[in-house]
Amino acid sequence: MSHEPPTRGRDAQAHPDITPGLIAERILLSALREQDRAIAIDTARASAELLAAEAGTRLEHMQRRHQSQRLDAIGTLAGGVAHDFNNLLTVIGIHSAFLLDALGEEHPYHGDAEAIQAAGVSAAVLTSQLLAFSRRQILRPVDLDLNHAIAGARVLIENLLGARIALTVELAPDIAHVTADPTQVAAVINNLAVNARDAMRGAGTLLIQSRDTYLAEPACVGSDMMPAGAWVTLMLRDDGRGMTERVKERLFEPFFTTKEFGSGTGLGLATTYGIVRQSGGYINVESAPGQGSTFEVHLPAAPRATRAGPSGGS
Ligand SMILES: Nc1ncnc2c1ncn2[C@@H]1O[C@H](COP(=O)(O)OP(=O)(O)OP(=O)(O)O)[C@@H](O)[C@H]1O
Ligand SMILES: [Mg+2]
Repeated sequence: MSHEPPTRGRDAQAHPDITPGLIAERILLSALREQDRAIAIDTARASAELLAAEAGTRLEHMQRRHQSQRLDAIGTLAGGVAHDFNNLLTVIGIHSAFLLDALGEEHPYHGDAEAIQAAGVSAAVLTSQLLAFSRRQILRPVDLDLNHAIAGARVLIENLLGARIALTVELAPDIAHVTADPTQVAAVINNLAVNARDAMRGAGTLLIQSRDTYLAEPACVGSDMMPAGAWVTLMLRDDGRGMTERVKERLFEPFFTTKEFGSGTGLGLATTYGIVRQSGGYINVESAPGQGSTFEVHLPAAPRATRAGPSGGS
């Protein structure tokens, strides 16, 4: 059995200058160090979270910019091809008309000349859609009341939706006018309504709204940056199947479609995007699988003074 004194007592003997006060001081210092460490860890964690958030925002901006540049690049290419194609189609159109005239209806090749002419006409429709996407269309902008444009398109939309899709139209009274081509605005409403119908697979609810929108500061809209100011908004909301992120990333690209072969060309939203951007506007899309889709088209509000009259110049 050992008669050694307990260790603590031996330390105290080895270090007679270690007083209870000093020990308390050391404990306090060590506690403070612990607290410092905890604060340092908290600070590091907060910084890391901040950095991650910043990196995420930067990545999102980069992706948006990339998407916008991609659409611009495709637009330039498509526009160039469509422009050259149009010149060729003019030749095909003129010469097939000559042929049809010269051959007469009884000629065995009359049908062939007709087929050439019909193909030329279909190709011209396609190239005009590509020109619309690449913002190289000839627009005829006028002072336009969006409410009138929606009211004008209503009967056509009701017909194309069918009886099992309920249409609700909510028009904000006395909204600002826009300066836009009425035919192209009608095409935008039509394209968005047809897509909504297809997404609802024959049954559901479509809401069409108009309203004034005031943006106090620039905002990200789709892949573009929408400047601050006064806008007029057209909104279509369906309760259809919605879209995945992958579809949302590509939906404005020409020829992008998820419809089965032969049912869609994938040019509806490409032309819509081109028309809206060429008119100085922006499109925003909110959608998730199974949760429907909301498309918002923002067109620049025309200054009130330029109005043609009390009922608008549509
Ligand atoms: N309201 C919507 N709900 C769900 N998906 C949509 C909606 N609108 C568009 N999409 C998706 O975006 C794709 C591209 O639409 P877009 O209008 O450009 O082409 P499309 O409708 O397939 O063919 P097209 O309009 O040329 O007949 C669609 O195939 C569909 O997957
Ligand atoms: Mg479509």
